[in-house]
Amino acid sequence: MQAFDVTVVGELNLDLILYGLPEHLEPERELLADRLALTLGSSSAIFAHNLSVMGSRVGFISRIGDDPLGRIALERLAEGGVDFSKVRIVSGPTSTGLTVILPRARFRNILTYPGTMLEMCFEDLALDYLASARHFHLSSFFLHRALRARIGELFQKMKQAGLTTSLDTNDDPEDRWGEDLKEVLRFVDVFLPNEREARKIAGTESLPEAIERLTQLVPLLVVKLGPEGALARRGKEAVRSAPVPVKAVDPVGAGDSFDAGFLHQYVRGADLASCLAYGNLAGAFSTTRPGGTEAFRDRQHFRKFVSEHGKQVAKQ
Ligand SMILES: Nc1ncnc2c1ncn2[C@@H]1O[C@H](COP(=O)(O)OP(=O)(O)OP(=O)(O)O)[C@@H](O)[C@H]1O
Ligand SMILES: [Mg+2]
Repeated sequence: MQAFDVTVVGELNLDLILYGLPEHLEPERELLADRLALTLGSSSAIFAHNLSVMGSRVGFISRIGDDPLGRIALERLAEGGVDFSKVRIVSGPTSTGLTVILPRARFRNILTYPGTMLEMCFEDLALDYLASARHFHLSSFFLHRALRARIGELFQKMKQAGLTTSLDTNDDPEDRWGEDLKEVLRFVDVFLPNEREARKIAGTESLPEAIERLTQLVPLLVVKLGPEGALARRGKEAVRSAPVPVKAVDPVGAGDSFDAGFLHQYVRGADLASCLAYGNLAGAFSTTRPGGTEAFRDRQHFRKFVSEHGKQVAKQ
């Protein structure tokens, strides 16, 4: 038996959320927040954490600094049951990254210091460890500047080792959507963009056209549609899944939680409709608390949500 169900490569940092600040940040004044939350951030870490809480065995590799923020991030992964024994801890001028989020009534400010996230390289990755799983996943393609040229090779190696693979690019902060991604997609079994990313990567404003184009590139395309749920295409087979009704308080990490729910079922050989339904369940659940992992940290809250909405999901 393999050591893991899923191994993950990606970025690892924390989100610091400061609530209650005024919309206008006046220079030189001391502006007081009324509440603070320090949560596990970053797409890959949220994915790994929430997948593990759902019951998959998850191994995660990243690169962090030898600093307090890195240590807190590892603590959070440990609480979620994720194996991080091969995370590379590097001392040097670059520290673990941090995102500061300022939620207001009408908008959010998001300030990120990427830190070690931009420096993770191929040599940081223990390939035998990554290959000791049924499935391999990578998130945030465009943030891995030092690794990017070899991401295709990494996926190819995982395929050669007999794993199935998946990729969630997330946004391209430079809005370039480089052609090198198409090379990587040759070795991707499940591609999980959101609607906007699908259109950007396919190079068209039309979502139906983007779906047609991307379906030619990967065996299974899954497109996340926010509050509208999600859809999947496998060749000519098309499946759409309705969202789970929820009182959303924060969309941060919904996409990563969706990926976790979908792949939790996929690695167990579930049919496409069940994978989509569980993805929608996990995505919706994630929005019930601020940050990307807070809802999943409350195991009782998760069990209750599944018992309330799981039957509905099973019926779809
Ligand atoms: N308001 C909502 N109600 C119900 N389900 C939701 C809601 N928002 C998100 N979801 C669920 O979460 C999934 C992912 O959301 P979304 O499309 O925002 O992904 P994303 O843009 O990749 O998110 P992220 O910011 O985490 O990368 C959706 O497909 C849906 O299943
Ligand atoms: Mg996303």
